[in-house]
Amino acid sequence: MLKSAVLCFAILSNTVNSDYGKNGRIYWSEFNNTMENGILDALSGLLPERPESMFDFLSDSYPLPGNLKQPYSEYDFVIVGAGSAGCALAQKLSKNRNTTVLLIEAGRPEMLFTDVPALAPYFQSTDYVWHYYMEPQPGMDNQRCFWPRGKAVGGSSVVNYMIYTRGRPREWDRIAADGNYGWYVTDWIIKLHFMSYDDVLKYFLEMEKAKLDGYEKNPYRSRDGETPVEFVPIKTKLLDAFLEAGNILGHPTVDYNAPNELGFGKVQVTMSNSRRQSAAKVYLHSHKNRKNLHVLAESRATKILIDPVTKQAYGIEYVRNKLLHTVYARKEVIISAGPIASPQLLMLSGIGPRNHLSEMGIPLVQDLLVGRNLYDHISFPGIIFTLNETNISFSENRATGDLANAISWMKGSDSFYSTPGGVEGIGYIKTPISDDPDQTVPDIELISIGGSILSDGGNTGSKAIRKGMRLSESLITETYGPIDDTDTWSAIPMLLHPKSVGHIELRNNNPYSHPKLYGNYLSQKHDVATFIAAIRHVQQLAATPPFQRFGAKLYPVPLRNCQSFTFDSDEYWECAVRTLTATLHHQVATCRMGPDNDPGAVVDPELRVRGIYGLRVVDTSVIPRTISAHTHAPGTIIGLKAADLIKTSWNIN
Ligand SMILES: Cc1cc2nc3c(=O)[nH]c(=O)nc-3n(C[C@H](O)[C@H](O)[C@H](O)COP(=O)(O)OP(=O)(O)OC[C@H]3O[C@@H](n4cnc5c(N)ncnc54)[C@H](O)[C@@H]3O)c2cc1C
Ligand SMILES: *[C@@H]1O[C@H](CO)[C@@H](O)[C@H](O)[C@H]1NC(C)=O
Ligand SMILES: *[C@@H]1O[C@H](CO)[C@@H](O)[C@H](O)[C@H]1NC(C)=O
Ligand SMILES: *[C@@H]1O[C@H](CO)[C@@H](O)[C@H](O)[C@H]1NC(C)=O
Ligand SMILES: *[C@@H]1O[C@H](CO)[C@@H](O)[C@H](O)[C@H]1NC(C)=O
Repeated sequence: MLKSAVLCFAILSNTVNSDYGKNGRIYWSEFNNTMENGILDALSGLLPERPESMFDFLSDSYPLPGNLKQPYSEYDFVIVGAGSAGCALAQKLSKNRNTTVLLIEAGRPEMLFTDVPALAPYFQSTDYVWHYYMEPQPGMDNQRCFWPRGKAVGGSSVVNYMIYTRGRPREWDRIAADGNYGWYVTDWIIKLHFMSYDDVLKYFLEMEKAKLDGYEKNPYRSRDGETPVEFVPIKTKLLDAFLEAGNILGHPTVDYNAPNELGFGKVQVTMSNSRRQSAAKVYLHSHKNRKNLHVLAESRATKILIDPVTKQAYGIEYVRNKLLHTVYARKEVIISAGPIASPQLLMLSGIGPRNHLSEMGIPLVQDLLVGRNLYDHISFPGIIFTLNETNISFSENRATGDLANAISWMKGSDSFYSTPGGVEGIGYIKTPISDDPDQTVPDIELISIGGSILSDGGNTGSKAIRKGMRLSESLITETYGPIDDTDTWSAIPMLLHPKSVGHIELRNNNPYSHPKLYGNYLSQKHDVATFIAAIRHVQQLAATPPFQRFGAKLYPVPLRNCQSFTFDSDEYWECAVRTLTATLHHQVATCRMGPDNDPGAVVDPELRVRGIYGLRVVDTSVIPRTISAHTHAPGTIIGLKAADLIKTSWNIN
C-alpha cells in the first residue's frame, strides 16, 4: 500500500532562504528574533551604528601575508576547499616554510555568530551554506530533501553541530582489509594498514586536545592535539535519565569514542569555552603569520587544469570578484571541496564516467566512476515524548529572553547558547535485526536531545531547527501544535549502515549549477526495518523508571499522511519514517578510495586520483564504506593523514 517514497518535507515553497543576502551579505532580518536579540543587546556597546556593517566588524579575515596585493601565480600545492580536511591539510603542509600552499575557498570567513553553538541551525538558512536539494525520489510530491553544506573558511565545520565521533575500530579495519594498504610493517606480518584503526587512531590522537573529566587520560585519548574536544557545559536532567535508562537496558555509560565497548555517553563536542572550534579556528586562525600559507576566501574553483596527453594536473581556474584567474601548482593540486563539490569539480574537469561526461559535452580525460557511490546518514526526529514536569527540557524561549544568558556566553561561561541544538547524549545500539556478525558494530546511533524539534517553537520561538531541516511548518503545526514549545524528550535514531546507496551526477557542464543528488533513501527494506527496531528501543528507554519519573509518554497524534495506519503499529512507523526523514549531512564515498583492483575506486589508498599525476582528493568523499561517525573528525584526520602521505611523496620534512 505504501509507495516506496521518502517525503523529506523539504517543501520548496516553505523554505526560509528567500531573503538571505545579496552581495554575499546576510540580511539583518535573518537575525531578527529573540535568540539573536539577546546576543545583540549584550553586544550593543561594542557595535557600530549601522547593523549591516556589523558583520564586517565582527568577521574574521585572511589577508595575504606580507602586504601582498595578489596571490602568487604558482605554488607548490594548490588546495581547493577550506573545510574539515582542507584546513588540517593546509596547515600541516605549510609547517615547512619552504613549502608554499594556496588554499582556495568559495565561502567567507567565520564571524561572531558562527561561534555560538546554539545558533548552528540558523546558518542553514544563510549563505554560509550551499543550498543543495536532493532530486525528488519517485512518488515524492515535489518534496526534496535539503542538503546544506558549509560554505565558509572552515567548511561544514562552521555550520555543523560539533558532535565528535570517531567511528568504530572494526569499521576502519574493514576499510584497510579491502586493500587500502599502508606502510606499517610489524615484525612478521605486513599489515594492511592504511586506514586500519591502529593507523587512524594515531591521527585522532594528533587531532584532539581532549578535556573530558578524566577520560582524556586514557591511552586512546590525547591532550596534545589542536582540536578541543569537550563535554557540553550545560545539561538537562533528561541526559541523566537517558544514561540511567541505558544502564537499565544493558548499555553501560562509557566514553563512546573509546575503542573497547559500545554504550551510551555524554556527547563530546569540538567546542571550547562555549565556543565552536571549527577547522578554520583550529588550523588557520592561529597561523595567519605564515608567509607560505595563503588563504583566498570568496574564490571559487571552476576547473582543474590537466594536460590531456601527459595526464598531469598543473593548476586550477577560479573565479574571484567575478574575474577568472589561473593559478599553477608546481607539485600537486588537491581537491578538498567535500563530498558534493569534489566529484562535481572532477567531472567538470573531465574525470568521471565516460558516458555521463559525453552526455554533458565534457571531453574525457580519465574514465572513473566518480559520484557513483553515495552513502548518507539519515535520521528520524519524530518520536517525541511529553513530560509532566515543566522547565526540564531546553526551551529557546525560556533561555533567550534572558539577557544574562547572552552575557554569560560572551564571557565564555555556560549558558543556553552553549548547547549544540540541544544534543546531550549519544548511544550506540545494535538492534535485534542487525545482520552484521561483529558484535562491536552498531547499526543505530541514538541522539538524545534535552527536548525535541519542538524546543525552538511556540509563538515567539525562532523555529530555526525545523527550518534548518526544512520540516513543513504546516505538518508540524497540525501534528505537534498542542505540544509546541512544551517540555518534551526525544532520542533521534540515525541509521549507521544504510544498505540503500545513492549517487550524484552533473546537471550540465556549468560550474555554477548544482549537481543532481540522488539520496535513494530507504529503498532497501532492511533500512526501514532497522529504524522501526530503533523506535521500539527508544520506547523501551522511555518506559524505564528514570523517564517515568517525568511521566514520559509517547505523543500519540499521527502525522497527517499516516492516519490510515494504526498509530504505533510497525506500518505506522514505516510511514512516519518515510515522512519525517532528515539527513545528518554525512554524505561519503562519492570519490571513494580503493586499491587498484577495485574498479569502482576513484582514488588509490594514497588518495591520488587514478590515472592522473599530481592530483589528489582529500576530504570525506574518499571514505569508501559507511562508518559509525559524524564526519567532521574523520574529515580532519584524512587531512592530517594526507599531509603525511604528500610529504613522503615529495620528501618534505
Ligand atoms: C548542518 C550540518 C551539521 C553537521 N553536524 C555534524 C556534527 O555534529 N558532527 C560531525 O562530525 N559532522 C557534522 N556534519 C558533517 C561534517 O561537518 C562534514 O562531513 C565535514 O565538515 C566535511 O568535511 P570536508 O572537508 O569533507 O568538506 P567541507 O567541510 O564541507 O569543506 C568543503 C569546502 O570546500 C568549499 N568548496 C566547495 N566547492 C568549492 C569550489 N568550487 N571552490 C572553492 N571552494 C569550494 C566549500 O565551500 C567548503 O568550505 C554536519 C554537516 C552539516 C552540513
Ligand atoms: C524585527 O521583528 C519585529 C517583530 O517581529 C518587527 O516588528 C521588525 O520590523 C523586525 N525588524 C527588522 C529589521 O526586520
Ligand atoms: C629551505 O630551503 C633552503 C634552501 O634550499 C634550505 O637551506 C633549508 O634547509 C630549507 N628549510 C627547510 C625547513 O626545509
Ligand atoms: C528553570 O530552570 C532553570 C535552571 O534549571 C532556572 O534557572 C529557572 O529559574 C527555571 N525557570 C522557571 C520558570 O522555573
Ligand atoms: C509525573 O508522573 C510521575 C509518574 O506518574 C509521578 O510520579 C510524578 O509525581 C509526576 N510529576 C508531576 C510533577 O506531576
